[in-house]
Amino acid sequence: MTFTIAIDGPAAAGKGTISKAVAAHFGFGHLDTGLLYRAVAARALDGAEATEAARSLTPEDLGAGNLRSAEVAQQASRVAAIPEVRAALVEFQRAFARKGPGAVLDGRDIGTVICPDAEVKIFVTASDEIRARRRFDELRAGGSSTTYDAVLADVKARDERDMNRADAPLKPAVDAVIVDTSDLSIEAAVSSVIKLIQSRMSQS
Ligand code: DC
Repeated sequence: MTFTIAIDGPAAAGKGTISKAVAAHFGFGHLDTGLLYRAVAARALDGAEATEAARSLTPEDLGAGNLRSAEVAQQASRVAAIPEVRAALVEFQRAFARKGPGAVLDGRDIGTVICPDAEVKIFVTASDEIRARRRFDELRAGGSSTTYDAVLADVKARDERDMNRADAPLKPAVDAVIVDTSDLSIEAAVSSVIKLIQSRMSQS
């Protein structure tokens, strides 16, 4: 018996930080599924290559050094709209979710497509401006010279593409709990998600 936690949401809403903290708290594995699309994007120059890259993706590819850049993020959002790419990545994600004792997967379509039977589904969101501000601060701290306006435009373009693609668009599962982190500290967001999971675990 495994326990699966699906955490979806738009770019820079805090999914990654919340997922890592939740996985550490419960001793579960954590898969950042955005990394799969980033790794495919980093290896591919066009759509045909992207499908091939997705089909031959290995866990080692997820450790490549350049996957966190804004350019790779945009390219990841583009390859993520190709149905053959998404199809090639399904089994990798489901196999991860089957590993015991439990797993946290974060992405865009975990609760809707990859793990529709997840025990807990959370949709983490925040206003565009707050998400852009957090990502901007992160990038600046890492030495980038980008501007807030550029980051905001980037986040909006990516969300727009992720929400409007035909295959597995970004949207909350009907049974997801929405967590808006606009006015929450990261500690408060993490502890409210942990409480929610604990209450589900005691019911199951
Ligand atoms: O979570 P992230 O920012 O690393 O994701 C990068 C892109 O990958 C995102 O803009 C859309 C795509 N993605 C997806 O389509 N489905 C997922 N489950 C995760 C990411």
